[in-house]
Amino acid sequence: MLEFNPNEMTVPEVHRLLVGGVAPRPIALVSTVSKQGVDNLAPYSFFNTFGANPPMVAFSPSRRGSNGSLKDTYNNLVETGECVIQAVTYNIVSQVSVASAEYLPDVDEFVKSGLTKIESIIVKPKRVKESPFQMECILKQMIPLGDKNASGNLAVCEVVKFHVDENIIVNGTIEPNLIDLVSRMSANYYCRANGSAIFSLEQPNTKLGVGFDNLPDKVKNSKTFSGFELGRLASIQVIPTPTESRQYLEQYRLSENCDRDFSSLFQTYTENSNLEKMIELLISTNKNEIQTMIETVIKIAIEKNQIEVAWHLISLLK
Ligand SMILES: Cc1cc2nc3c(=O)[nH]c(=O)nc-3n(C[C@H](O)[C@H](O)[C@H](O)COP(=O)(O)O)c2cc1C
Repeated sequence: MLEFNPNEMTVPEVHRLLVGGVAPRPIALVSTVSKQGVDNLAPYSFFNTFGANPPMVAFSPSRRGSNGSLKDTYNNLVETGECVIQAVTYNIVSQVSVASAEYLPDVDEFVKSGLTKIESIIVKPKRVKESPFQMECILKQMIPLGDKNASGNLAVCEVVKFHVDENIIVNGTIEPNLIDLVSRMSANYYCRANGSAIFSLEQPNTKLGVGFDNLPDKVKNSKTFSGFELGRLASIQVIPTPTESRQYLEQYRLSENCDRDFSSLFQTYTENSNLEKMIELLISTNKNEIQTMIETVIKIAIEKNQIEVAWHLISLLK
């Protein structure tokens, strides 16, 4: 591993490391209004939520890296104590990027970005119509994190009103594929959270998994399984007994031995990710050299979230 001491680095180098490793970051599209009444809009990815009771969010309008001056969002927020924070979706991200340019304080970035302003209910700053998730906020604390170029300022805000597009909600949950959020990574990279980038892991909470320490050595020491797969196996609450696994696998035994076409059939089933057919083949063959094939099927079972089936198959490993 490389080591870096921040106090021996330039500020841009430190910034580059932080934004590469602390990623993907959600993006707050922050609207404020100046005392003179000029609407302002800018994205901030040093941003997150920090509590639900009361609902708190925070973001960092930093001092400019070039000269240490304060940004319009900071000035407006300190002067008026209000902002609206909206989620950035794939649909609006390039317009948001336009709004991020360093326009002078008297320039309205709603106009520059082409995003539509609509009135808020509680606070003065306007909302962005095109964002499906908007939070009207009151500034609770502005915490300076330094007074040099690129020093942060933590704007801690309480959400006093949420606005959510009903089309992104399924069974009371915001559905990630429907909201289609984007996040910020290093350099000019963004990340789109949809499709195959999204996966789910059941929250263990009170369900105690058997843990990594209870994985058999033949599984832990296998070169085939990734840390992700071992973690999924460790999440099972009760490991099936050898009898349970034997009974489970027996249902797949074919009346005829299928050694003849074994390899080609196995390949076809692997390509189609046909878990049941693969198990059928595995337990109906006389071949001895099937360790790696069993491991392949275990991986596919894990991929299909069939953790108990994966454990039954582990009983076939030598
Ligand atoms: C996706 C994205 C994320 C950004 N995140 C931050 C951030 O967390 N903090 C910051 O100070 N500037 C950030 N910026 C830069 C500001 O948006 C930029 O300095 C902007 O001009 C500030 O506008 P304002 O002066 O109207 O507030 C980000 C820019 C982009 C494109």
